[in-house]
Amino acid sequence: MDFRSALCCALLLVPVAMLLVSADTSSRLYIVYMGEKKHDDPSVVTASHHEVLAYVLGSKDEAQKSIVYTYKHGFSGFAAMLTESQVRIIASLPGVVSVKANTHYQTHSTRSWDFLGLDYKQSSPSDLLKKAKYGEDVIVGVVDTGIWPESRSFDDSGYGPLPARWKGICQAGAAFNATSCNRKIIGARWYADGISAEALKGEYMSARDLNGHGTHVASTIAGGQVRNASYAGLGAGVARGGAPRARLAVYKACWGPGSCSLATVLAAIDDAINDGVDVLSLSLSFQEEEVPGTLHAVQKGITVVFSAGNKGPVADTVQNAVPWVLTVAASTIDRSFPTVMSLGNKEKLVGQSLNHNATVNTDKFHALISAGSCDEQTLSSTNVTGMVVLCSAPWEASSTPTPQGFVNAATRVAKAGAKGLIFAQHNSNILEATDLCRRVMPCVLVDFEIAHRIASYANTVGTPVVRISRAFSIVGNGVLSPRVAAFSSRGPSPAFPAIIKVKTNSCHPSSVDDRFGMRIQAEGSPRKQADPFDFGGGHINPDKAADPGLVYDMDAGEYTKFFNNCSLGPKDDCESYRGKKLYQLNLPSIAVPDLKDSVTVWRTVTNVGPVDATYQAVVGAPAGVNVSVQPSVIRFNGGGSKEATFRVTFTARQRVQDGYTFGSLTWLDGGTHSVRIPVAVRTVIQDFIADTS
Ligand SMILES: *[C@@H]1O[C@H](CO)[C@@H](O)[C@H](O)[C@H]1NC(C)=O
Ligand SMILES: *[C@@H]1O[C@H](CO)[C@@H](O)[C@H](O)[C@H]1NC(C)=O
Ligand SMILES: *[C@@H]1O[C@H](CO)[C@@H](O)[C@H](O)[C@H]1NC(C)=O
Ligand SMILES: *[C@@H]1O[C@H](CO)[C@@H](O)[C@H](O)[C@H]1NC(C)=O
Ligand SMILES: *[C@@H]1O[C@H](CO)[C@@H](O)[C@H](O)[C@H]1NC(C)=O
Ligand SMILES: *[C@@H]1O[C@H](CO)[C@@H](O)[C@H](O)[C@H]1NC(C)=O
Repeated sequence: MDFRSALCCALLLVPVAMLLVSADTSSRLYIVYMGEKKHDDPSVVTASHHEVLAYVLGSKDEAQKSIVYTYKHGFSGFAAMLTESQVRIIASLPGVVSVKANTHYQTHSTRSWDFLGLDYKQSSPSDLLKKAKYGEDVIVGVVDTGIWPESRSFDDSGYGPLPARWKGICQAGAAFNATSCNRKIIGARWYADGISAEALKGEYMSARDLNGHGTHVASTIAGGQVRNASYAGLGAGVARGGAPRARLAVYKACWGPGSCSLATVLAAIDDAINDGVDVLSLSLSFQEEEVPGTLHAVQKGITVVFSAGNKGPVADTVQNAVPWVLTVAASTIDRSFPTVMSLGNKEKLVGQSLNHNATVNTDKFHALISAGSCDEQTLSSTNVTGMVVLCSAPWEASSTPTPQGFVNAATRVAKAGAKGLIFAQHNSNILEATDLCRRVMPCVLVDFEIAHRIASYANTVGTPVVRISRAFSIVGNGVLSPRVAAFSSRGPSPAFPAIIKVKTNSCHPSSVDDRFGMRIQAEGSPRKQADPFDFGGGHINPDKAADPGLVYDMDAGEYTKFFNNCSLGPKDDCESYRGKKLYQLNLPSIAVPDLKDSVTVWRTVTNVGPVDATYQAVVGAPAGVNVSVQPSVIRFNGGGSKEATFRVTFTARQRVQDGYTFGSLTWLDGGTHSVRIPVAVRTVIQDFIADTS
């Protein structure tokens, strides 16, 4: 139905009394969502938005004042300041799918050590990158806190002209003008309407990045090569992003400490769709729900990439778990910074530190003292001035998150006048946190076993001493990697337990083993073998990903039904989607959160490899579950379909209220293709019983 005629119907249906703007005068920002874009001419949609508002508010002027953003490219809707009674009226109009109060997201990776500028990327480009010309033809839209255009990562030397399809702009503002964009940063926009004055305090009213997060994200994705990058000489090498020659389009929707309003994020997504980005990156989330609007970007052929979050190693922390986006976890790399500690008894032990350029002379012996948990009491009753202090308290580490425990200890020890810190921790990679020791004292991280040896020495000799050497860096086979980083958020998704987010586009091969053939480990306490809730499909192998053999393709119509039922839409039928129907989405993973007796799941694979191929199913069954695949052999040939559908039946071996167990399903062609998806199953006796035993 055309909106104008819809409006006429509404006029007849809405009781006149409701039209009078009633006594509730306090208005706030609401998002009015009117579904998929219905008109090709954006001005028509804009007109109807204003009509809705003018009708409800009584005049065109009022409508003009109240409207904050209009969404018209990927989807239809607007953000406006409204009172509750106005919201009720608007929600009842035909054509309006939902009206929701504006909410806020938080940028991910708010931890300071994410911004150290350490060269975290492998320095040898893979073949795939070469083939893809390092991403030169790709336009990546980054919705974040803006950009610092002078950063060396965004130098545009040697770039060709802008892609012809690019329709974006370089929006001027404070300390940001047309010359701030170049052939690398090809577009910039900013969205400050509806943002509180407090969040804007001290901000650049432009796409310039005060916070630093947006610049960090943009350079990680698409930063050009910066030679001779290092952390005070440590880890020297070439820093660059994953697609070093991709073009960047910057959308500043987040302000101040990294707070992003839904209204501004939607405005950014809407513009990005129209500007012509190929990839949209959002390193942000908010607590309860998913970022809506992204489906419409996907429907326009844009790949949407989210970070999973930095709330690990605790389970149930994965965010942005909707099926149509890629959700990226974090892992460690094959670099470490060993630091030798020489004890007075000539014993040499090794920890890790960033102790490369402390002003304190690190190459001489200092008195050593073991101070337990290094709590206030111990440190105030012990003279640690001029000493290297060992802080080791496994019992306390169980209740304090490791980075926090480290920060507390380092702060107290430095305040007490110590000359160095040896800090014992469970195996989690918090090395970056030791940056706060820079120019103060050497801070070395050890595990509890090494700490125990240092403590035994310190407690048995009269005048224990230690010498802490400068850290050096080693790269490559000496370092067990990758591991899932401790801070990387983990599944299952509390909102959608039947979806396992895969770290990469799992249409694509990825590996669950490290390059020593050992299962990838997940940092945390205790460190453990990683499972699909830690790494989804596994660690991506970008070169193999270009030749996957089979893919699990997804019908956009299915996404739309899911979205309409469970996301921005009215949530009519979300329960059924959260439950059984969600198994059947053709995802490259299978999660059955409620296996009672037997569940059958259907999947369809599409052959994108050689025309003639025969694949055999190999099942790694989760513990306690029988799995059968029918058919277990799939043949493709020139004449037949490129698609094959199979069913996977899970049968519980015993009736028990259990936790998740993990397995896999792999299609092998006997040659180079091995197409593996992760499987997670939880057997239950009763539905909806909290797993708190
Ligand atoms: C705009 O760019 C020019 C050329 O780089 C520079 O001289 C000028 O200061 C810039 N203006 C602002 C407001 O940043
Ligand atoms: C790299 O940086 C170091 C220290 O910052 C400097 O001494 C050296 O000359 C630089 N090398 C090049 C090639 O720029
Ligand atoms: C080492 O620290 C000193 C003092 O803070 C500083 O002046 C110097 O530039 C640093 N050296 C390197 C290589 O970062
Ligand atoms: C603590 O030890 C330092 C160095 O040995 C010494 O100079 C200082 O007087 C001591 N302080 C107290 C309160 O004993
Ligand atoms: C909700 O899901 C059901 C079941 O898949 C589907 O038939 C229906 O069309 C969906 N609702 C909307 C509004 O798309
Ligand atoms: C599971 O498989 C085993 C071995 O094939 C079989 O003996 C058993 O009966 C099966 N259990 C169920 C519940 O299907």
